[in-house]
Amino acid sequence: MTLLHVTGVTKGYRQGGMFANGRRTEVLCGVDLRLDKGYCLGLVGRSGCGKSTLGRLILGLERPDAGSIAYKGRDIQSLRGASWREYRRNVQVVFQNFLGAVNPRLTAGAIIAEPLDNFERLTRAELARRVGSLLERVGLPPAFAAKRPGQLSGGQLQRVCIARAMAPSPEVLVLDEAVSSLDMLAQAQIMDLLAGLGRDSGVSCLFISHDLRVVARLCGEAAVMRHGRIVEQACCSGGRFHHCDTGFAELAGALLPSRPRLPC
Ligand SMILES: Nc1ncnc2c1ncn2[C@@H]1O[C@H](COP(=O)(O)OP(=O)(O)O)[C@@H](O)[C@H]1O
Ligand SMILES: [Mg+2]
Repeated sequence: MTLLHVTGVTKGYRQGGMFANGRRTEVLCGVDLRLDKGYCLGLVGRSGCGKSTLGRLILGLERPDAGSIAYKGRDIQSLRGASWREYRRNVQVVFQNFLGAVNPRLTAGAIIAEPLDNFERLTRAELARRVGSLLERVGLPPAFAAKRPGQLSGGQLQRVCIARAMAPSPEVLVLDEAVSSLDMLAQAQIMDLLAGLGRDSGVSCLFISHDLRVVARLCGEAAVMRHGRIVEQACCSGGRFHHCDTGFAELAGALLPSRPRLPC
């Protein structure tokens, strides 16, 4: 079943802001993408190619200039009231900048409870129980509910952000460079966690990254973006990419670190 269907999406920005007379730059040009239920789809490409812009459009934070984004067959621009709320509940996001994504004055428990408060009516005891079980699901002890962001490592804080995203039981997680700011060990641990969440909860992921290795490790398929266009759809398994053409090889050459194990 297709959850998200992006068709012919185009987006541009006027240079110098909305009210300036600057030239318009096209960031996305006719992007097509499909995310099916239970899948983890990668979106890879060089920095600045338009990945995060597509992520913001999918989250409904901005509107496309042309084309459509459909969720279970309904254009998200046509959603209003309760159906829009339902969409926002079902499509959650985890960003790269975990420090900027949380209020430093709140405890981890309050951070995770926020979407539960927004979307469900729970008693205090029920809320505390749900927060505890979400912390356990992301590999943190329930006692971490009392800690504030400043008392957590980067990996632990990103786990709290993942728990917050999982709190309203979404169908889709958009992960925008969600492991890119972490060291290699924390990256590996968070990817294991995401793979486990995908298996256990069936949540579908759009995993946006400039890092081919992490995408190959987590995703079964990846769309390769270049200058605002999807130029290739590659398959991944066993931490490697398969069936990729020259567009992908060029990207691999540009993005992989100095001692690569070539994924293709
Ligand atoms: N709100 C905006 N106004 C103007 N330009 C933008 C805006 N958002 C993104 N861009 C431009 O769009 C291009 C793609 O950005 P982005 O989607 O963040 O790329 P990526 O996530 O692939 O690194 C960049 O050149 C960026 O400067
Ligand atoms: Mg980005």
